[in-house]
Amino acid sequence: MPALPEGTAVPDDGTLPFARVGSVALRQAQEPRPFGVYVHVPFCSVRCGYCDFNTYTASELGGGANQAAYATTALREVDLAARVLDDAGLGSRPVSTVFFGGGTPTMLPAADLARILRGVDDAWGLAPGGEVTTEANPDSVTPESLRVLADAGFTRVSFGMQSAVPHVLATLERTHDPRRVPDAVAWARDAGLDVSLDLIYGTPGESLDDWRASLEAVLATGVDHVSAYALVVEPGTKMHAQVRRGELALPDEDDQAAKYELADELLTEAGLGWYEVSNWARGPEHACRHNLAYWRGDDWWGIGPGAHSYVAAPSAEPVEAAHADPAGVRWWNVKHPRRYATLLESGSSPGAGRELLTPAEAQLERVLLGVRVREGLEVDALDRSRRAAVAGLVARGLLDGVAAVRGRVVLTRQGRLLADAVVRELTP
Ligand SMILES: C[S@@+](CC[C@H](N)C(=O)[O-])C[C@H]1O[C@@H](n2cnc3c(N)ncnc32)[C@H](O)[C@@H]1O
Ligand code: SF4
Repeated sequence: MPALPEGTAVPDDGTLPFARVGSVALRQAQEPRPFGVYVHVPFCSVRCGYCDFNTYTASELGGGANQAAYATTALREVDLAARVLDDAGLGSRPVSTVFFGGGTPTMLPAADLARILRGVDDAWGLAPGGEVTTEANPDSVTPESLRVLADAGFTRVSFGMQSAVPHVLATLERTHDPRRVPDAVAWARDAGLDVSLDLIYGTPGESLDDWRASLEAVLATGVDHVSAYALVVEPGTKMHAQVRRGELALPDEDDQAAKYELADELLTEAGLGWYEVSNWARGPEHACRHNLAYWRGDDWWGIGPGAHSYVAAPSAEPVEAAHADPAGVRWWNVKHPRRYATLLESGSSPGAGRELLTPAEAQLERVLLGVRVREGLEVDALDRSRRAAVAGLVARGLLDGVAAVRGRVVLTRQGRLLADAVVRELTP
């Protein structure tokens, strides 16, 4: 698992580093910024060989931080978050989106997930039409558990399917039987939940035909949302060691590009349009609003060990890039579930470190994230010195020329394949 970034200490009570600009009149005069809540659930039944997320199997966890107590512990952080935001004058915003991610959130009983969601609702209120998602492994749900989640207010489930091909799933060390996926999708839909499927492409040994079979299996389920990620072989994982020892061979860049193009072609033909480099939806109403909020730079509070949070400074005026006050603060929690629980039990913030973003840094982040979404961003949002690069990127077929004429930076398919390189050219 990657180490946490360095940063400055988070005060024991979690106070945000903003002077309370909280005159009620000022706050009411402003349109409140959207606010989301992420809940990290750091448990898995086994660790997949490629995964470096902050998650623990029973044997990795050791004693002292059990799953049965997790909902109670997470709710302690919800209480702390409500107090801290209230003290900063940011307490009265309803929650637009909630996302339970992992790990495997559905390792917890559905009633525990429902209890955490109720705590979030009690603390801030869920906005009308709010989106509530949980990630799940296909073999960690039943028709009953999905019904309990839907009854509790969950609206979406995102299943980690990864592939439909047994030898690919075996290389990834996934535990589920691919035949289980259509059943899980049908149960979720019967319960009234929107469904997304996650895929990974570029697994060692995966042919283009294997990848096509996975995409066709996804389309056969009729889901309205798909995420497809290129496999990243993270240092420190078992797969990284297998690649280093020559036991697994990574596909080359051309293979990855062909797989991305095939995904975009088949998904688009089936009526799912891209709305972020790795995400496709049947229509805007099926896009994941929680993830869109990250990419747009909205505020969110991450509950759970290792979770990150971001809150923009309350301000009466739009902040100029040259301004000296912080534009926002990002912080992250301690990683181990035991330490996380101990801090909250003693009434302390579980924050391990934080970073204040200057207005220029916050603007740079907006560009880094905004370029990746289909709505793109305004050319004016780019640093003045980088605006001239847009014409060259259009000429090379990486940015959409029509959008550029309208003053927006939007990737073409070729540009999406090279999104990181495009971003490098658009940032100082
Ligand atoms: C961390 S998992 C959590 C959900 C659930 N435990 C699962 O695995 O399905 C969320 C998604 O991240 C993606 N993911 C995790 N590690 C990855 C890696 N090394 N490369 C590419 N995608 C990865 C997978 O598609 C996975 O569905
Ligand atoms: S089930 Fe998901 S979170 Fe758990 S180890 Fe596998 S990929 Fe990682």
